[in-house]
Amino acid sequence: MARNIVITSGKGGVGKTTVAACLSAQLARKGQRVILCDADFGLNNIDVVTGVENLVTYDVVDVIEGRCRAKQALVRHPDFGNLYILTSSHSAPERYVSPQSLKLVLDGLSPQFDFTVIDCPAGIDEGFHRAVAAADEAIVVTTPHVSSLRDADKVITLLKSYHLNGLSLVVNKMRGDLLFSRESLTPAEIERLLKLPILGILPEEYAIYGGEFTDLHPAFKTLANNLLTGKNKLFDVTKKYSGALGALRRLLKRNL
Ligand SMILES: Nc1ncnc2c1ncn2[C@@H]1O[C@H](COP(=O)(O)OP(=O)(O)OP(=O)(O)O)[C@@H](O)[C@H]1O
Ligand SMILES: [Mg+2]
Repeated sequence: MARNIVITSGKGGVGKTTVAACLSAQLARKGQRVILCDADFGLNNIDVVTGVENLVTYDVVDVIEGRCRAKQALVRHPDFGNLYILTSSHSAPERYVSPQSLKLVLDGLSPQFDFTVIDCPAGIDEGFHRAVAAADEAIVVTTPHVSSLRDADKVITLLKSYHLNGLSLVVNKMRGDLLFSRESLTPAEIERLLKLPILGILPEEYAIYGGEFTDLHPAFKTLANNLLTGKNKLFDVTKKYSGALGALRRLLKRNL
């Protein structure tokens, strides 16, 4: 049976979709069979982020309404053979999808996969509850900024009422230069504030999202390893800012 993990945050734009897509691809690269499910029915973009938008024939609403079988709606990624993408509705984004129906589709596919990674929409209304109801673990994505941490805290309180098997944090858009000069909250401080373990740290970098989807940043390797092994080894975002070259990088970043 697959581990069903929802990637959520409360606040919009913190990197849920980026984390869901790249973590899924990294898990698939490690031989895990992964479904990446787009549970954002308003601003769905998993197909675009993963580059499969031209390969989509059916979506999850087609499955729910009986126009195809669940397996027919899975788009196999051309570069990651173990990664299957289940898109949300394109034809009728306004159509109501109940939490039970989404869960039923994913539960039906679960025996043939190792992971289902569910990309949650921003906010804490209906779309959030639909995505979380289909999961048995949650990863809360936050940035080190106060507004994001505050929303993460609210979401964590809500998630606790779901009695999930696992609840952890990914800190995205961490500025290595600011962490180096002690101008950003440290991972330990974030863990203390939100009272949850950090599963991964991702730097704020063009390389995280700007290149080819297949060029996965090494920070996703560390994150995927932690998920698979239960360890909490964190990617060092300050490394490239230490030493003489690092000092130059810090100076350049500050003057950008
Ligand atoms: N580590 C990062 N460094 C730099 N930019 C990033 C990073 N992670 C994500 N981004 C960029 O931030 C923007 C928002 O990311 P993303 O779409 O993943 O967020 P989201 O939480 O899914 O947003 P929404 O709430 O709208 O669904 C995108 O332009 C993405 O490329
Ligand atoms: Mg998103």
